[in-house]
Amino acid sequence: MAILGKIIKIYNETNQGDILIHLDETLFIGEGRNRKCYIHPNDTNLCIKIPTPRGERSANRERRYFKRLHLYSKNMEMISDYKGGVKTDLGNGDIFELIRDSDGNISKNLKYYLELDLDIINKQIIEQIELLRVYLKTEYILISDLGLDNILLQKDGNEKLRLRVIDGIGDNNQVPFLEFVKPLGLKRSAKKWELFKAVIAKISLDIAIKIKSFNT
Ligand SMILES: Nc1ncnc2c1ncn2[C@@H]1O[C@H](COP(=O)(O)OP(=O)(O)O)[C@@H](O)[C@H]1O
Ligand SMILES: [Mg+2]
Repeated sequence: MAILGKIIKIYNETNQGDILIHLDETLFIGEGRNRKCYIHPNDTNLCIKIPTPRGERSANRERRYFKRLHLYSKNMEMISDYKGGVKTDLGNGDIFELIRDSDGNISKNLKYYLELDLDIINKQIIEQIELLRVYLKTEYILISDLGLDNILLQKDGNEKLRLRVIDGIGDNNQVPFLEFVKPLGLKRSAKKWELFKAVIAKISLDIAIKIKSFNT
């Protein structure tokens, strides 16, 4: 895409007009430490995340990171992509792809599937995590918090799982500089990756030991 086209896309992401979207608890999906997530009332394949007051700063940082990922034309296939800002009656929100299984149910997270502890699923988890590792390195996308609830496994009609990251990417330093200093960024990602493995190890040591180190 030409640079002008990209700038227009990013401008549109920032300015979604003055339409006020009405959200209520019937649309509520889930919440983490920083945000509440709702189904977009006008598009069931999108969600709207509303930051809590203390989540405002990190939401801002994430918004800016996604815009730069778009500017650099990064491949977003393993990430729930950012679609822009929106005004709602619960405050300013951010629109993302809502991850659903092929049967329409909202996809379940990695913790859920790890706890099932089924061979056929564990095998796919290991494969998907390896795909994620290679993807994050190839695209040079930074990770800040790969919690087990920040990763969903999207199930298709043949029970095949596809990993999608819904939260926790980017550089969470006050001044995000790591994307511009790749050796340091890779080092940070490797550290975060080890934390991710350690959390998995608490549920399944078997799986954790099969996950490669980030920079292998
Ligand atoms: N793209 C998405 N698709 C489906 N569910 C989502 C999506 N994003 C968030 N959720 C749900 O909302 C919860 C909170 O969203 P999250 O972005 O992780 O917020 P926080 O920044 O507070 O951790 C998630 O744990 C998940 O249950
Ligand atoms: Mg989260």
